[in-house]
Amino acid sequence: MTKFELPALKYSFDALEPYIDKQTMEIHYGKHHQTYIDKLNAALEGKDEWQNRSLEELLSNLESLPEEIQTAVRNNGGGHLNHTLFWEIIAPEKEAAAPSGKLADAINEAFGNISTFEQQFTDAATTRFGSGWAWLVVNQKGQLEVTSTPNQDNPIMDGKTAILCLDVWEHAYYLKYQNRRPEYIESFFNIINWDVVAAKYEQAIK
Ligand SMILES: [Fe+2]
Repeated sequence: MTKFELPALKYSFDALEPYIDKQTMEIHYGKHHQTYIDKLNAALEGKDEWQNRSLEELLSNLESLPEEIQTAVRNNGGGHLNHTLFWEIIAPEKEAAAPSGKLADAINEAFGNISTFEQQFTDAATTRFGSGWAWLVVNQKGQLEVTSTPNQDNPIMDGKTAILCLDVWEHAYYLKYQNRRPEYIESFFNIINWDVVAAKYEQAIK
């Protein structure tokens, strides 16, 4: 069987300082993300028909999975997919740039300008009650949209393709920011890897 594995990071644990601290990265990536993967693999153990499907396929078809593993795949498969995207779309500050090309045009078309997009994204991340994620997605009409989901749900469950995300579970920021989620959200805009987001956008509208 194919087992899901922790994806390699393209930067060191301390590379996102001061916005995301080294200890948070070590625990978030090495413990939290690894645990989602371990539990996902455990849920799929012995389920031959489902073991070699992609995560996207599993999460888009949750209701067709055996009932006893639906919740585990939703939570832990979602956890794996969400964190994999998150590590990809952040980068050390010096490598982060602004949106450009087709993505910049699409952001202007959907939101008016980049600051309005940032405001909407900030609102989505701030008002997500409890644990969850804020997203920039491409919807079924090929348009950009800001959204948020609870727990480890991924927009693919609603037929939308995520191109940017922010983890607002307390485990993502509590060590450094404690209860100050808005400060963490503000910091995030310094470390978005817009080149990766632009590539994901172009892939999503193909
Ligand atoms: Fe997380």
